[in-house]
Amino acid sequence: MAKTQQKPLIETANLVKKFGSFTALNGVELSVLPGEVHALLGDNGAGKSTLIKILSGVFPPTSGEIKVEGEVVNFASPRDASDAGIGTVYQDPALKPLTSVTRNFFLGRELTSFNSPFGLLKMAEMHQIATEEMAKIGINVADPEQAVGTMSGGQRQTLAIARAIYFGAKVLILDEPTSALGQKQQMEVLKTIRRVQKLGDIAIILITHNEIHARLIADRFTFLSLGEVIGKGTSKDLEGDDIKRLMAGGAKIGDLAKELAI
Ligand SMILES: Nc1ncnc2c1ncn2[C@@H]1O[C@H](COP(=O)(O)OP(=O)(O)OP(=O)(O)O)[C@@H](O)[C@H]1O
Ligand SMILES: [Mg+2]
Repeated sequence: MAKTQQKPLIETANLVKKFGSFTALNGVELSVLPGEVHALLGDNGAGKSTLIKILSGVFPPTSGEIKVEGEVVNFASPRDASDAGIGTVYQDPALKPLTSVTRNFFLGRELTSFNSPFGLLKMAEMHQIATEEMAKIGINVADPEQAVGTMSGGQRQTLAIARAIYFGAKVLILDEPTSALGQKQQMEVLKTIRRVQKLGDIAIILITHNEIHARLIADRFTFLSLGEVIGKGTSKDLEGDDIKRLMAGGAKIGDLAKELAI
């Protein structure tokens, strides 16, 4: 569990994102500690994906600041963010289904004997690394030469997460990792997240629409609504229907009930 005196691994100050005249993020402050699962929650259109796209270098903010380990960063591309230790895993990780687990694990960063892209691939070593790294966070791949298309959705998520960590992610951003999966696979992914958390110093930002998953796994929460932070707190701070209410954009459950009344 995260200690209170720890410094944030990643934080934003007064982050603003405008698309033309539309303001998608309006002064967002987010602060994520090492070793914590930080749930980023909010209704459709709240700005969650916009925020993580800025953190992962897909596009720049209109204004405001991002700091990684206390240093201001400016990402011109996803590569910059990845080099700074931000690993992002999307709902449907971009994997090549007909290609082996190992090749997908390395994808463009293969180990070669002569330290050149034309050198011989060190396949045995790559198989071993891919198998070990995935085992660390919970899946045992019988055959690393098997095509990725034969893995379950949950296993593919785990592969993408293991890969991000192996290639240096200190901050792991998961955008709705469970939403496209069946019950059993959802649990697999939650277990994977737990295991990553247990590694100790990685910060995990978890975006989900699933209140139960958020409750089960998150240490702290930030709630967005229409581009603004409308609440934050630890799992201890938030009780009763707080999480549900804030996820829905802050309206009281009573107000929602009224809205439903015809
Ligand atoms: N490229 C874009 N151009 C114009 N508007 C955009 C763009 N991307 C997002 N928006 C708008 O910004 C707002 C926030 O969108 P965003 O995708 O960040 O929400 P979200 O919280 O991820 O929602 P969901 O839960 O549905 O994934 C929405 O109103 C959306 O229409
Ligand atoms: Mg989204």
